[in-house]
Amino acid sequence: MAKQAVVAIIGGTGLNEFAAGSQVPGGRSTPYGETSSAIICTPLSAQGVGLSCLFLARHGNPHAIAPHQVNYRANIWALKQQGVTDIIAVNAVGGINPAMTAACLVLPDQLIDYSYGREQSFFDGVANPLQHIDFTHPFSAQLSGQLQKAASAVNIPIHSGGVYGVTQGPRLETAAEIRRMAQDGCDIVGMTAMPEAALARELEINYASLCLVVNPAAGCSEQLITMDDIHEVIDQGMGQVRAVLSQALPA
Ligand code: HPA
Repeated sequence: MAKQAVVAIIGGTGLNEFAAGSQVPGGRSTPYGETSSAIICTPLSAQGVGLSCLFLARHGNPHAIAPHQVNYRANIWALKQQGVTDIIAVNAVGGINPAMTAACLVLPDQLIDYSYGREQSFFDGVANPLQHIDFTHPFSAQLSGQLQKAASAVNIPIHSGGVYGVTQGPRLETAAEIRRMAQDGCDIVGMTAMPEAALARELEINYASLCLVVNPAAGCSEQLITMDDIHEVIDQGMGQVRAVLSQALPA
């Protein structure tokens, strides 16, 4: 990211201490409705050199908004109004690729969108004139590369590349759905990268996703998936996510 970059982290579960800073002026209201949470100027910005870092809690604070009900348009639009140039999205995901086991970090470079019924464009011919953005490479290679370098600098293994399959939720998938996604080439499965990534591209914001695998996807292990197991991995794994972010941001 450039020196004058304004970076925002969109966090899911387990990054609450980033929400500890002061709220940026401007409030939560947008032409598309309210953002999921207030936008916070994080303590990390104080360490940055010419860099400010904002934080938005995707599922609200406290965490109560389901993935299909997140107001993705309001969130991305409000960040753009704050001058954000780069978004690092933190996503909890299930692992489909056997190499992507619980507690692994992944920087996907592709996605397949299986979600439906979400407001997914600023340029839909209603809110704004119709436009078709290029989305060949949905994630910023440059921003993902910086996260990868940050992870190596702090000796945290990370998978670079992979296909993120975005499902509707809030339920988890069936084993047959995951088998189909594996055949489609998906490595990980989550519920929140879309339409977030496409909306960021529409507003010309660089966007990378830093994923924490929190469970083997449905049917990929002998066990059923429990929220207790997921929360245990989130508690362990978010420390690694924070270490990568802290290393990536002040540079
Ligand atoms: N599927 C979809 N979303 C998820 C999962 C999963 O297994 N784990 C965390 N988010």
